[in-house]
Amino acid sequence: MAKKWIRNGVVVTSSDSFRADLQIEEGKIAAIGKMPENTNDEVIDASGLYIFPGAVDEHTHMSMPSNGTETMPWETETIAAVVGGTTTIVDFAMQAKGSSLTDTIRKWQVRAKGNTAVDYSLHVAITDLTDEILEEIPTAVRLGVSTFKLFMAYKGELMVDDSTMFRTFQKAKEVGALVMVHAENGDVISHLQQQLLAEGKTEPRYHSVSRPIEIETEATHRAIKLAKAAGAPIFIVHVSGGESAEEIRRARASGQAVFAETCPQYLLLDETFLGLPDFEGAKYVCSPPLRAKGNQEQLWNALADGTLQTIGTDHCSFNFKNQKQMGRNDFSKIPNGVNGIENWISLLYTYGVKAGKFSLNRFVELVSTNPAKFMGLYPKKGTIAVGSDADLVLFDPKEKQTITAVNQLQGSDYNLYEGFEVQGIARHVLLRGEVIVKNGKYVGNLSQGQYIHAQPFAAAYTLNAAKGAITAEDKQIETGTAL
Ligand code: URP
Ligand code: ZN
Ligand code: ZN
Repeated sequence: MAKKWIRNGVVVTSSDSFRADLQIEEGKIAAIGKMPENTNDEVIDASGLYIFPGAVDEHTHMSMPSNGTETMPWETETIAAVVGGTTTIVDFAMQAKGSSLTDTIRKWQVRAKGNTAVDYSLHVAITDLTDEILEEIPTAVRLGVSTFKLFMAYKGELMVDDSTMFRTFQKAKEVGALVMVHAENGDVISHLQQQLLAEGKTEPRYHSVSRPIEIETEATHRAIKLAKAAGAPIFIVHVSGGESAEEIRRARASGQAVFAETCPQYLLLDETFLGLPDFEGAKYVCSPPLRAKGNQEQLWNALADGTLQTIGTDHCSFNFKNQKQMGRNDFSKIPNGVNGIENWISLLYTYGVKAGKFSLNRFVELVSTNPAKFMGLYPKKGTIAVGSDADLVLFDPKEKQTITAVNQLQGSDYNLYEGFEVQGIARHVLLRGEVIVKNGKYVGNLSQGQYIHAQPFAAAYTLNAAKGAITAEDKQIETGTAL
């Protein structure tokens, strides 16, 4: 690959913003400084543009089987992702009942191979824990999976019991893996669903009535305590409201290694969308559900004050016409999940940075650096440093757009953020030094995305960071020399 320079841009990392030229060689950042006057290298002009490390979306569901249907595929969704500024995703490989973790990982790799525009890594969602599966966790780590998700909700499908949670925390601790938890009380949800349906309450708005915030808060508290008893770190996914953020804040203040993510939908939308007429509310069905508007401010604050460390999209996209309609007469049958991977970076820049909720550097930290650290991909991904992959977003902070499904690349027949105005778009995107988005258009091919082995550093790194001190071990972790 020919050497390249990107000149005249403003480089933005999680800690600094500075004007510099970047040299790229063999897919990696080779130099940060001043481009020589006379060079034979290819030159990309980034005047007027920010240069961010490519976003790392730690929470996606591509081509995921779900109650007899499937989410939108890798092919469309990863192209949409990269055009929006995401260069790496971490997708959830879902263990089918009776399947091994190795088979689950292989199945996801086979589906992604040749069909992904972005680099990807995997979490495994454990849904059926046996003694053999528990013993397979170290093998999964060797295969490059350092994060495991447990569901406390979706009773009869994905939900696990407390004993499963506890044993998984114990094993994860042994191998340095990180357990991610979907915190909602599945028993109570199941009871409320049946009660509401028996009363003839079938419309989408009852989705949120069946999942009150208290049952998210309770599950968050329980998961945190189980992790504490096992002595393991915990990562709570898709925190939807202020109450559960408060549980996390309290546990962190006590010194426990508790980490958490929220998603754009909880920051930008609220439960009133579920009440839209003509079944349109089904478009907004996700779990945990959208909350009362007051929660949005609490979540923005929790991102700014460090209670929450990351933002992920939870991109889990279905069509309105033939998929969300499965729940036309029963809200509990509406496929759970929403879209967002194409627009999240522009949305968070507009409504986060420009609106003064957090700084430009904190924005990079929330959508790129911290996801890469927690998911074991840092410093290969998530930063702009010599030796890191040249996954770069040349971001035009002036360009304005109105989001609409009419010209989107996401495969779904609707866009969750229809009509939202954004300022700031990805103009050019490089994946390991290759320009794959040029002037906002995808120019890559689907065999470019690679599987990235996650390192089981995340827990060690974050545990030490949680203690406050940066240790020698942290340094090894940061430079990739640990293990
Ligand atoms: O509604 C959602 N979030 N669907 C995706 C599965 C999950 O729980 O993350
Ligand atoms: Zn979940
Ligand atoms: Zn999810």
